[in-house]
Amino acid sequence: MSFSIELELQNFPKPIALKDGKKATLRMLKADDEKEFHQLFLDIPEPERMFIKHRVQDIKVIRDWCRNIDVGRNLPLLGIVDHKIVGVATLHQRLGGWKRHIGRVSVLVHPRFRGRGLATQLVQATLEIARRAGLERAEAAFIAEQAAAMKMFAMLGFNQLVRLEDYVKDMQAITHDYVLMGLDLRTDEEYAGVGG
Ligand SMILES: CC(C)(COP(=O)(O)OP(=O)(O)OC[C@H]1O[C@@H](n2cnc3c(N)ncnc32)[C@H](O)[C@@H]1OP(=O)(O)O)[C@@H](O)C(=O)NCCC(=O)NCCS
Repeated sequence: MSFSIELELQNFPKPIALKDGKKATLRMLKADDEKEFHQLFLDIPEPERMFIKHRVQDIKVIRDWCRNIDVGRNLPLLGIVDHKIVGVATLHQRLGGWKRHIGRVSVLVHPRFRGRGLATQLVQATLEIARRAGLERAEAAFIAEQAAAMKMFAMLGFNQLVRLEDYVKDMQAITHDYVLMGLDLRTDEEYAGVGG
C-alpha cells in the first residue's frame, strides 16, 4: 500500500451529513462485515442486481471480498447509517499494464437510502483517495440503462468516453449498450508545473 493512501485512510471513519440531515459514517470494509455487506446486495431488487458484475447474492463471493481486502487493488468504502451498511463505493486499481494510472470507480446505494446525496459523497471521497494514490484518471463503466448513475457521475465532472452498442451482457445474458465515462484527476497546478 502506498504511503499516501495510508495517510488518506487515516481520515476514516469519517462522519458526514446526508441531505435530509441524517448522520452517516464513511469507513473502510472490514473482515467481519460479511453478513451486513451481503444483506445490502440482497436488498437490491433482482432486476437491478442483474447489472452488477459479480454473483453478489452468493455469500461466498462477499466472504471472499471481506477476507481478502487488498486496498492497493480494491478499496471498498462503505456508507453506514444507524450501524447498517447502506452504500459502497469501490476504487479498483490495476498494478500494471496500460491502465495502471487509471482508477475504476463503482458505487451502489441501498434503494431506501437513495436521493440523499450518499452516492455523491462516497464517490467524492473515493476520488480523493485516488488522487492521493497518485492516479491520474478515474473511469466508471455502465450499462446504458443506469441513467441515474451516469447523471450522478456527470455532475461530478465525468464525461462520456465511449458508448458501444450491444457490447455487454448482464447476469441474465441479456445484451446492453456499454458506456465508459472518465475524469481527469490531475489538478490545474500539476498541469501548470508540467510546462515550467
Ligand atoms: C446511482 C446511485 C448510486 C445513486 O445513489 P444516490 O445516493 O441516490 O445518489 P445521490 O443522492 O448522491 O444523487 C446524486 C445525483 O444523481 C442523480 N440521480 C440520482 N438518482 C437519480 C434518479 N433516480 N433519476 C435521475 N437522476 C438521479 C441526480 O442528479 C442526483 O442529484 P440531485 O439529487 O441533486 O438531483 C443509486 O441509484 C444506485 O445504487 N443505483 C444502482 C447501482 C448503479 O447504477 N451503480 C452505478 C454503476 S458504477
